Amino acid sequence: MSECWWKDTVVYQIYPRSFKDTTGDGIGDINGIIEKLDYLSYLGISAIWLCPVYQSPNKDNGYDISDYESITSSFGTMEDMDRLINESNKRGIKLIMDLVVNHTSDQHSWFIESKKGLDNSYRDYYVWRDGCSSEQPPNELTSVFSGSAWKFDKTSGQYYLHLFTENQPDLNWEYPNMRKDIYHMMNFWLNKGIGGFRLDVIDLIGKEPDNLVTANGNKLHDYIQEMNQETFGKYPNAMTVGETWGATPEIAKLFSDPLRKELSMVFQFEHMMLDQKNKGDSSGKWDLVPLYVPDLKAVMSKWQVVLGGQGWNSLFWNNHDLPRIVSRWGNDKQYWKESAKLFAILLHFMKGTPYVYQGEEIGMTNVEIDSIDQVNDIEARNMYFDRLGKGYPQNELIHAINVKGRDNARTPMQWDSSKNAGFSSGTPWLPVNANYKKINVASQIKDADSILNTYKKVIEFRKDNILVKYGDYKLLETNENIFAYLRSNRESQLLVVANISSREDVFDKNGMKFGGRALVCNYQLDLEKEKISLPPYAAFAVMIDNRN
Ligand code: GLC
Repeated sequence: MSECWWKDTVVYQIYPRSFKDTTGDGIGDINGIIEKLDYLSYLGISAIWLCPVYQSPNKDNGYDISDYESITSSFGTMEDMDRLINESNKRGIKLIMDLVVNHTSDQHSWFIESKKGLDNSYRDYYVWRDGCSSEQPPNELTSVFSGSAWKFDKTSGQYYLHLFTENQPDLNWEYPNMRKDIYHMMNFWLNKGIGGFRLDVIDLIGKEPDNLVTANGNKLHDYIQEMNQETFGKYPNAMTVGETWGATPEIAKLFSDPLRKELSMVFQFEHMMLDQKNKGDSSGKWDLVPLYVPDLKAVMSKWQVVLGGQGWNSLFWNNHDLPRIVSRWGNDKQYWKESAKLFAILLHFMKGTPYVYQGEEIGMTNVEIDSIDQVNDIEARNMYFDRLGKGYPQNELIHAINVKGRDNARTPMQWDSSKNAGFSSGTPWLPVNANYKKINVASQIKDADSILNTYKKVIEFRKDNILVKYGDYKLLETNENIFAYLRSNRESQLLVVANISSREDVFDKNGMKFGGRALVCNYQLDLEKEKISLPPYAAFAVMIDNRN
């Protein structure tokens, strides 16, 4: 196996709570994942990003871990987990564990100890500071999930830092004993035969709270290099992907240049912040503006070329924190099928490692709520009450949650048209999207023209394909809403064209020679014409004839 197997792979992300429930408690579980491994093999993926399954009080659905070395009981047991690792490996699917080491749950034994007092041996595992008073925190740092990032602790009279909810205290990476314990735990998992880690908000671990710095602090890369040496660096085939909201291409190279021995790749979000007012800022997500397609072309094309051989990027439209792409930038009504396929075709011929988030492959859509009582997600709830208090109109806030809220991605997977979409025989923890009779795996698996089979096709095409993996990338100048690019190497050239709009448009071949059959497309298009008519959301990929 080549050292960089992950450059050839497509990763499938599983949000276990919502994937498949085998016990009837309404919550997905590990056995449910095992049950569906053959489906994932059918789809052609060769790695799973598994969202956290560790023991957790679930204040942030598993991103608040209270014991890294045991499994949360609603998901199953450690034996189930071992079986999942083995069964995945048998099918050539690597299991990439989501790992949260920026913070733990406040129920973690380290924090329970740490809270006991200033001289407790775990005190320095977390970030404690004096404030001016119990009402006045050390400084104005704010939490990603609204409000101050400092919480006063009466027992010791100090504040602790929490960049997310107050139930997610931040670990103190400056403290070597804490780092050693984290590495020990990571090796525990690597020894079980997992394929690597997705590292949650990893760019925050070098925080310098006294300087109001959270992401990309001074010591960040020292810590990651140390982590690499102490853990996954000892496993030559391990893949690591770092969630890095604030990465620029220069920062991405620091993380993923193979010579620096840090991570395999970054998972950066610049393109995901284009439909908000303040584009570079992850906290601006609720201030909506429409996507301007030329911005998308510019940002995605920049990331295609700037890393060169000095880094590697992830390719994605969705994850468990993002709204569904077909509802977000496609059209989930009139052009549901076409636009869902467009996003598959547009992304999967680019350079990088593609990720498919559960349900994306069948075109699952956002859900609509009309009151905050229907919202489960802590981020959206905190934002709502915070902004309501600041005088924002209620309907604007509900609208923003419908467009961007994380519950959109978390409704149960739609397997078939039976009760609860075949997800659970009990009452699902989050209601199933009402459209499951129309949108489900069972109906699409039989249909050669389905979204699912388009995903299968593009995933298959990438495999061992040197052109897609390493070929040069060039954005073509086209009409505003057409995203067209060329991939090329000495032997061959491939063209991808996508009309990201509900209006017809025309693509001018400008002398390029191709015709006949597309590799993949979402309409019957006449590719022989010099000016190709593109219906709403039309997309195709085709090999260019190099003989002329
Ligand atoms: C990451 C996760 C998100 C979680 C947060 C705090 O952004 O993807 O789901 O809430 O980190 O751990």
